[in-house]
Amino acid sequence: MSKNNFHIAVLSAMPEEISSLKNKLKNIQNFKLQNQEIISGIWKEELSHSNEIRITSSWSGWGKVNSAQAATKLIYLNQDFPKIDLLIFTGVAGSADNNLKQWDIVVGDALIQHDMDASPIFPKYVIPNINKSFFKPRKEVLKWTFESFKELENKICFKKVYSGTIATGDQFISDKENIISLKSEITNLLAVEMEGASVAQVCFNDNVPWLIVRVISDSANDNAVTDFNDFVSEYESKSWLIIQSLLKNINHLKLK
Ligand code: ADE
Repeated sequence: MSKNNFHIAVLSAMPEEISSLKNKLKNIQNFKLQNQEIISGIWKEELSHSNEIRITSSWSGWGKVNSAQAATKLIYLNQDFPKIDLLIFTGVAGSADNNLKQWDIVVGDALIQHDMDASPIFPKYVIPNINKSFFKPRKEVLKWTFESFKELENKICFKKVYSGTIATGDQFISDKENIISLKSEITNLLAVEMEGASVAQVCFNDNVPWLIVRVISDSANDNAVTDFNDFVSEYESKSWLIIQSLLKNINHLKLK
């Protein structure tokens, strides 16, 4: 039987968004690169299987620069580790669609930086040099993600699983007018957050498969700050379930 040794990176903006991951790993090695703490270990629940799943994880802090730098550090952390097969960024997001409420899960099928605007030299949202505005994860990663989340949909605290566009910018959005304007310009916009598209860009540049998964914490409106704070304190004990359902199904991930 061929042995498939996966190496998965799990990144979030805040520690609450990866919560108990550390307790689920064995043979942990700790790294500190300036202010970023990174752990790498073997996922315990998989120890009895033929596959060995290495997980390298960290939280980045908020925003595009923090997340891009953290993703880069994960990718190049240790040349002795196998190359990262998939980088998962997970955490909470504001809803950009009236149908999406707290505890709905959004799988990003397209990521865009809503504060990128080099017009009139380039069209709005287009990143110069790369010449693209949307980053899309691999189809096989999306398929596997939906399969994995079947066990979470409408179970425990989670509600519906959606896929659509996630927009990223260095801005916590708490104004409905702002969302309405973004929604009118960005196709199939479902959620807003502050890190996903920068991580997607790093992975695109460095040819690492990636996935951005968000759980709705607020509606990016006047109540966003209170809703966000209340939600995050509750989410902390549940965020592991998102990661776990993906890791449990990792053997079904077929990357070409
Ligand atoms: N992350 C969670 N809620 C958010 C919001 N309203 N704006 C930006 N990022 C968020």
